[in-house]
Amino acid sequence: MSREALDTVADAVGECRRCALGSTRDKLVFGSGDPDARLMLIGEAPGRSEDRVGRPFVGAAGKLLDELLASIGLDRADVYIANVLKCRPPGNRDPRPEEIEACAPFLQGQVDAVDPAIVVTLGNFATRFMLGTREPIGRLRGRIIEAPGRRVFPVFHPAAVLYSRQKRDVLFDDFERLRVELGILASARRG
Ligand code: URA
Repeated sequence: MSREALDTVADAVGECRRCALGSTRDKLVFGSGDPDARLMLIGEAPGRSEDRVGRPFVGAAGKLLDELLASIGLDRADVYIANVLKCRPPGNRDPRPEEIEACAPFLQGQVDAVDPAIVVTLGNFATRFMLGTREPIGRLRGRIIEAPGRRVFPVFHPAAVLYSRQKRDVLFDDFERLRVELGILASARRG
């Protein structure tokens, strides 16, 4: 079911030209992973490597994301990963409001199709998307926040911690908390 629903969203995206990024991107990065995942992760936008390959988180931040997932006993095949924007902003600048707006129905469609138990938002843009708040990630990170119909778990974006040992430790600690939350949800489901 989820796979068909995701395919419908991918068909709707098509060779998107709804915003200016459609003419500067190389590859559109739709998303990847298990359509039935209990955990969905949302990043910001493709970077240079993702734009070349067409898959999310394949560069340095992706390597760290793999380590974070491994630290809680998961890998890419167990989760579903998408971004707020499907196309790379030139020079890796921040996503613009009109780009986020043009892409929003597709990310929302992906979240609805996968229907995960927890959505991990990586950084400010994904957190803002899911929670509609301007509250900075530093204040929201590391705990479940209940949004209408969704459990959201904001954390620092992996790219934002690459050069800070202290923030990197915080991100690993938050993933440990995430592991506990997933365990709690799994045992509630069983019993
Ligand atoms: N950063 C993101 O937010 N998404 C990617 O896919 C890669 C880097």
